Order: sequence, then structure tokens, then C-alpha cells
Amino acid sequence: MDIKEQFRREINKKSVFKNRDLVSPHYVPDTLPFRENQIQEIISDLAPALQGNMPNNLFLYGKTGCGKTATINKVLEKMLEIQKESNLQQSIVSIYINCRTYNSKYKVLLKVADNLFPKSYFGYSASFIYDSIVKELTQKNVFVIVVLDEIDLIKDANDALYSLVRINDEIKQGATTIIGISNNVLFKDCLDTRTKSGLCKKELIFPPYNAQELKEILTQRIGIGFQEDCVEEGAIALASAFAAQESGDARTALLLLESGGEIADKKQTYKITEEEIKEAKKQVEEEIVVDMISTLPEQIKIVLFAIANMVKNNRFSTHLLDDGYVIYSGDAYLEYVKQIKQVSKQPVTMKWFKEYLGELTTYGLLITTTSGKGVRGSTTLIKMAIDANTVMKVLETNL
Ligand SMILES: Nc1ncnc2c1ncn2[C@@H]1O[C@H](COP(=O)(O)OP(=O)(O)OP(=O)(O)O)[C@@H](O)[C@H]1O
Ligand SMILES: [Mg+2]
Repeated sequence: MDIKEQFRREINKKSVFKNRDLVSPHYVPDTLPFRENQIQEIISDLAPALQGNMPNNLFLYGKTGCGKTATINKVLEKMLEIQKESNLQQSIVSIYINCRTYNSKYKVLLKVADNLFPKSYFGYSASFIYDSIVKELTQKNVFVIVVLDEIDLIKDANDALYSLVRINDEIKQGATTIIGISNNVLFKDCLDTRTKSGLCKKELIFPPYNAQELKEILTQRIGIGFQEDCVEEGAIALASAFAAQESGDARTALLLLESGGEIADKKQTYKITEEEIKEAKKQVEEEIVVDMISTLPEQIKIVLFAIANMVKNNRFSTHLLDDGYVIYSGDAYLEYVKQIKQVSKQPVTMKWFKEYLGELTTYGLLITTTSGKGVRGSTTLIKMAIDANTVMKVLETNL
């Protein structure tokens, strides 16, 4: 067949989607339902910049998919629009940094410098870049708002934050404000007291969405992204219920809906029912696990790796009658120490190790219970909540 004709057919192919991009979790709508309070708090914090006063540093915390990145970016976008429209004297620059990519003090400073005064600083030392930032800021009287998204992924977070905070001590006009974002409860505890008190003066919690809220978020997107009457009520309810059960995550809910649409197109039924959502769940689940594991902090990855390795090799602490198994935290800790030494890193203490187990449990990757105070003191009993082989496969390429 004529290739041009093939293109035409592809474009005109029937589909449940009116505009698939608007259904995708990458799209951020102008209104973010159920985040009104957080938006108001951020506005109160940042508005002083529009009046020539320095905003406070902020720390946004909440589980994955609960709108942290979407909210901050939307608020900053609108703030900069106001600044442009009203021709303010005070110049404001906002710099969004995803610390998954910019994961060291050096890379963060480089990104700040690049955004402020585009010129290649690559190859210069961190202190040179820092001095250049201070020099330029002093001359230009700029308010810089630096968003450090997934801040827990900066390897030398203390140093990086200290540098950014110190800029304010050196400049006489303008200021730097830091907005840290994390879904890791433990992150703040790794910071020096001083850095912590500076950064976390004001904290905003983003709670998970419940099923009803997710339903409304989905309905908003269905209105703009899908053809009329393609999505059944039952399908919306099911996608919301699944995502609410997981972690109240809007990203998961949207992915279920998007994959459901894809499945309905493939089947040429052009109707998303509960059935399509169930199929989508299977498909999405694996993608989510892979994504979740690959973005864990390194220490926690090694904890998970150690446990998966024990399970894979049938090295359990106890077999249960029902063919199940249990690993004791003490045994898992020894394996973890062994694994971490292989990558020439220092192990954390047992206390931290147990915190990490708690976190992996929260993510739904482990099932843990604490035994009563027996001979072994308080031992945590561990089982894996997902397939050990999948974990090993992801981590072997990801550690
Ligand atoms: N209140 C909302 N209304 C509409 N859509 C939303 C809302 N909250 C989140 N979303 C959608 O979910 C997507 C994911 O949210 P977002 O990226 O902000 O999560 P996050 O809290 O930053 O998660 P993570 O910790 O994984 O980075 C957004 O891009 C947006 O499409
Ligand atoms: Mg985010």
C-alpha cells in the first residue's frame, strides 16, 4: 500500500481518544482539584517576591503521584505570568531542577548558573561556579527560586543545600529561595540540624487522594481527552479504587485510564469498561514496580537487593507450614552488610536498616511484621510482596 495512504489511515483511525496527551499523567491541567489549600499556602509564601521581599524556603512532602511537582510548577508558571504582565521592577527567576538528573552539588550549581546567565560553566570547579553565581546575583538584584524536586536523590544534599543557603549571606540585594520536594520521609533526618531548620521552616504535606477525589480528577481528564461516552462509570470507579488502594496516586489512576483506552482501541470495541481497566492494571503494575524500584535511594535499593537475593536462593530464616517463608531482620541485615561491602560502601546501623524496611513496606515492596518480645528481642519478620526475580532483574541493571 502507498505509504502516504497508510499515514492517512493511521491518522483517521477510529479511537477512544480525542486528545491522548491530555489524558497522560505528564499533562498538568490549569486547575488542580483538591490542592487548593497547598496552592494557597505556596502563594502566600511566594507572593512577597512580587513585592520585592524574600520568600521563605519551603519543603513539600507527600507520596508519589499526589501532585507535588504539578502544583509547584503550575503556581510558579502563573507567578511568572503575573510578573511579566505587571512589568515589575523586581526580576524573578525560577529554576526547576529534577535531582534525579542533577544529583550532586556540582550539577545543581551548574544548573543554577546555566539558568541565570547562559554561558558554559562546564568543567569549572564548584567554587568557581558558586562565586560566579554570587557575583552575578549581586550585580543584578534578582530573586531566584530554586525548586529541588526529588531532593533526596542529591548525593551530597547537605553540602548542596548549605551552598545555596549561604548565597543569601553574601549578596546584599535579591535573594535565593529553595523549595525542596520529596516523597521520602527519612530525608530530613539525614540533614544537619542547621540545614534542616533553614530548609524545613515551612512544610507542606500533600496527602494521598482518596477514591472519590481520584474519580473527580479522572472525570476532568475524560472530558477533555476522550470522545464522548467511551468511558463507562464503572471503569472510572474501578480505576480510582485501584489507585486509591495503592497509594492515592493520581499518576497511577491516569495511567490505568490511558492504558484502558489503548486496550479498547486495540480490541476495536472503543469502550472502556471495568474489563479494560482490569487488563490495564496488569500491564501498568509491572511498569510501576520497575519504576518504583529504579528510583529508590541507593541504600534502600541494596536492602531490597539483599532480601531478594536471599529469597531467590531459598535462604530463608524459617519455612512456614503453608509453604511460605520468613526472613528475620537479623539475617537480612547480615546479608545487606555483605552486599554493601561488595560495592565498597558503609553499611547503616540496624536501627536505620529497620527504618528502610519500614519504607519498603510502605512502598508495598515488602510485607513486614514485628514479632513479640521473645528471645530475639524485637525481630522484624520479612516477606517479599512482589516477585524476587523481577526485583533482581531491575536492580542488576540499576544499582
Ligand atoms: N489535583 C490534581 N488534579 C489533576 N491532575 C492531577 C492532580 N494531582 C496530580 N495530577 C496528575 O498526576 C500527575 C502526577 O502528579 P505529580 O507529578 O505532581 O506527582 P508528585 O507528587 O510529584 O509525585 P512524585 O513524588 O512521584 O514525583 C500530574 O502530572 C497530573 O497529571
Ligand atoms: Mg514529582
